Amino acid sequence: MRPQSVRTRITDLFGIRHPILCGGLMWLADANYAAAAANAGSIGFMTAKTFPDPGRWKEELEKAHALANGNPIGVNLYISQRPEENEMLSGHADLALQAGVRRFETAAMPPAELVKQLKDAGAVVIHKVASVRHAVSAATKLDIDAVSVVGMECGGHPGLNMIGNMVQGVLASLRVDIPVVIGGGIGHGRQVAGALSFGAEGVILGTRLLVASEIWSHDAVKKRVLEADETSSRLVLASMRNTYRVLDNQTARSVADLEAAGANDYESYREHVRGTLQREAYEEGNPEKGLLSMGQSAVFADRIEPLGAIIDRMVDEMDEALDRLARLRVGRDAAAE
Ligand SMILES: Cc1cc2nc3c(=O)[nH]c(=O)nc-3n(C[C@H](O)[C@H](O)[C@H](O)COP(=O)(O)O)c2cc1C
Repeated sequence: MRPQSVRTRITDLFGIRHPILCGGLMWLADANYAAAAANAGSIGFMTAKTFPDPGRWKEELEKAHALANGNPIGVNLYISQRPEENEMLSGHADLALQAGVRRFETAAMPPAELVKQLKDAGAVVIHKVASVRHAVSAATKLDIDAVSVVGMECGGHPGLNMIGNMVQGVLASLRVDIPVVIGGGIGHGRQVAGALSFGAEGVILGTRLLVASEIWSHDAVKKRVLEADETSSRLVLASMRNTYRVLDNQTARSVADLEAAGANDYESYREHVRGTLQREAYEEGNPEKGLLSMGQSAVFADRIEPLGAIIDRMVDEMDEALDRLARLRVGRDAAAE
């Protein structure tokens, strides 16, 4: 576990040592994940929607707290484009608040009522979007504390515009006054130093953590991520305006074939895009099954190890990069004289 080496509004806001957040990971973001992140000086967001049963959700929250040694844990509330999928959101949020959670990551469609529910209870809320335009809109219209903006490199939903972090990562903090976190393609500490120099105050990880030992998926799936490089993901469902970056596997290729053939109704895709296929893939160790979110930073995943070791290495790399940048400076002493 590394001591704190940089302080930003994000580390202060979340009460964490490192400017690194561990994002919601659907089926994989459980109590073990959130606790591992908490104990590593980061914060991990458990995905509420994968615990539809209120009793199980309560148990998982209690377990996370028990394992986190007093460090904060977070909850991810993903707002779907399909309203029927959002019916449990408020109840999930309520149970999390009752369990003492005060750090939330909301994502996707703007959650005004939900944000009010969380803020009234004194929670910290970071809202995740995939474009600077949505970040500006969220920062001005919602009572949120911070915004995270993911670039087109990211695993999961990169939005529609396909702008990478080299542009979007800088633009976000130029356009938004509240603290900005950037994500997408980040898996090395040099990128964390880069993000700080871009004006962001933290980063959010997803793909890089898929090989953490605490992640419950079958080792065969982790091994497939280890074999992956920066070219091993593909974008699907852009034609349905619901772009996903996923592992380029058999299911992704079937979906791409359907798109190429012009399928434009959800029914045509249903058998391939069911979320439960992902869970089965993780359980069975079959990386060809389902649309498995994975981004370009898979290339940085080089071994299965505890999540804390991944964060420690990234913090060391960030420190080295920041030191190197400081050594590159010339003329400062002369200017100060
Ligand atoms: C397997 C996987 C599942 C994800 N599930 C969620 C989720 O449940 N909710 C959410 O808001 N984001 C989810 N994301 C997005 C991550 O929280 C994070 O924003 C993104 O992965 C960052 O980009 P990266 O993958 O390039 O690191 C998921 C990402 C992956 C790789």
